[in-house]
Amino acid sequence: MSALVDGLARLEYRGYDSCGIAGLENGKIFLKKRPGKINQLREEIKNHLSDKLLLGILHTRWATHGKPNQANAHPHLDCHHDFAIAHNGIIENYLKLKDELIGAGHKFASETDTEVIVHLIEKFYKGSFEEALIKTVAKLEGSFAVAVISRYHPEKLIGARKGSPLIVGIGKNENFFASDIPALLPFTKKVIYLNDGEIAVLTRNNVNIFSFSAKPLKSRIEKVKLKAEDAQKKGYEHFMLKEINEQPEVLKKTFSLYCKNNKLNFPDLSFRPSYLKNIKKIFITACGTAYHAGYVAKYFLEQYCGVDAEIDTSSEFRYRKLNIKQGDLLITISQSGETADTLAAVREFRRKGGKALSICNVLGSSLVKESDGLIYTLAGPEIGVASTKAYTAQIFSLYLFALYLAGIKKSLTKNQIQATLNELSKIADYQKEILDKCVQVQRIANKFSKLGSFLFLGRGINYPSALEGALKLKEISYIPAEGYPAGEMKHGPIALIDEYRAVVCIAPRDNLYEKMVSNMQEVKARRGNVFGILNYGDKEASLLADEVIHIPHLKNQFLSPLLVAVALQLFAYYAAKHIGCDIDQPRNLAKSVTVE
Ligand code: G6P
Repeated sequence: MSALVDGLARLEYRGYDSCGIAGLENGKIFLKKRPGKINQLREEIKNHLSDKLLLGILHTRWATHGKPNQANAHPHLDCHHDFAIAHNGIIENYLKLKDELIGAGHKFASETDTEVIVHLIEKFYKGSFEEALIKTVAKLEGSFAVAVISRYHPEKLIGARKGSPLIVGIGKNENFFASDIPALLPFTKKVIYLNDGEIAVLTRNNVNIFSFSAKPLKSRIEKVKLKAEDAQKKGYEHFMLKEINEQPEVLKKTFSLYCKNNKLNFPDLSFRPSYLKNIKKIFITACGTAYHAGYVAKYFLEQYCGVDAEIDTSSEFRYRKLNIKQGDLLITISQSGETADTLAAVREFRRKGGKALSICNVLGSSLVKESDGLIYTLAGPEIGVASTKAYTAQIFSLYLFALYLAGIKKSLTKNQIQATLNELSKIADYQKEILDKCVQVQRIANKFSKLGSFLFLGRGINYPSALEGALKLKEISYIPAEGYPAGEMKHGPIALIDEYRAVVCIAPRDNLYEKMVSNMQEVKARRGNVFGILNYGDKEASLLADEVIHIPHLKNQFLSPLLVAVALQLFAYYAAKHIGCDIDQPRNLAKSVTVE
């Protein structure tokens, strides 16, 4: 059982405001749950973590319905404590169901939407666990991955999936459910990714899968390539620092997979060259950091491929009235492949007849299953809630795709493509140079983290770098930070600038450099504290900056976001560390947002 708690701890990045465990002990359901983190729970249940508990479900929560307190933590029980359930997702019709169940005499113990599921199972149970679950899922609207145990069936663990990830892990004399692979890695590499509309019944030695309409289905066992160590800290103080440092390796792997002998090839792209050749418009959509990666890509897709590219956050995109023309492509970007809004955006776009290409870091994820084509990012498991290596892996993969597309469309010459590939192949080494400056970045971050708020300014392709720099800083250090296109500063944010504020100016020597220098002058004239991300050998901007991190100058100015990102990630990391924040698990956030 304590191994199961370790497994849960590997999913803590998914949510960490409260947690709990339910197991079968001496014919009864044992339940312990509490607000706070898994280590606190582990302490409380250490006397129960004996081998007497052979079957259990565990959950770590990111609150949607109801505060993160003990009552609302999962697992949840029915009135007679015959069943226990853990649930990810949202039951949209829970209020109606709750009213009906209360009307029929059920007593509720929490404010959650989840609790209706376990009361429905109680209501429908007439001796068959499976039948009760089938009848229950038919009543639910919304998204769910559930795992249920019952004291009537001490040998069975049963789960169902619709819209939220659920994976079966196949071990030796033991089987598992998990919502993500890292939880399973210490136990097994053999997995079945359940599809929407599927139920699985696990016993020690058996896995049975059937549809919501009780039709038996074949198991599709796959082998996971990741190693258990891939999801560990490997001596780093935080996952975030480890992941920042892994970036050069990730880019090298990506380059050698997709560019062999100077030829670009994407094995899972699945689009015919004739289709790609005629693409005129590319829509891009994503959330959070992945949205910023898409924003960077918008600039170079337009520049290299001669297409119109527009970007929107998935939560907006899915509700827009889109004017999709035949041949338009949607690029969606997601580390997890499970972000609810991004998935909904893909479904909507495809429903209207468009094709979707996903840039995704998790094979077997919902996004991968639901897209027409895939470029798999090779970042490996990303555990720190603040995304770092996934971001640069997304941008890098998209550069390679843009060059491939430009080759097909002949919007760039062979020589131009070759020159850019050459420079891309060196980015990993340039990133290492920046990582070697960590002591210097730490000193600057310590000094600047005392300032009250931050403005991140950039122009052109580094405007999204400014957005991402501000996001990194605010999400892990809680210092208010805003990213802005530098040219817009005088239309509002300039009002904030005084000697107590920091302004991060991203000003590599590119076609907008002179404009950036003017904006920096405006900041200095108002006594703002300037931290510049500038090229080696910079003269003018350096004179205006209080502190500088130098990055290598690139011939192709469109590639600089891959270097700027590393400097700003380190900066956010050290600022948060100096303040004493919980870097890998910042408050209120979750790594994978599987609800709308
Ligand atoms: C959350 C995470 C971010 C991530 C975003 C999108 O907000 O905290 O780090 O960028 O979701 O997630 P995705 O898995 O779709 O990239």
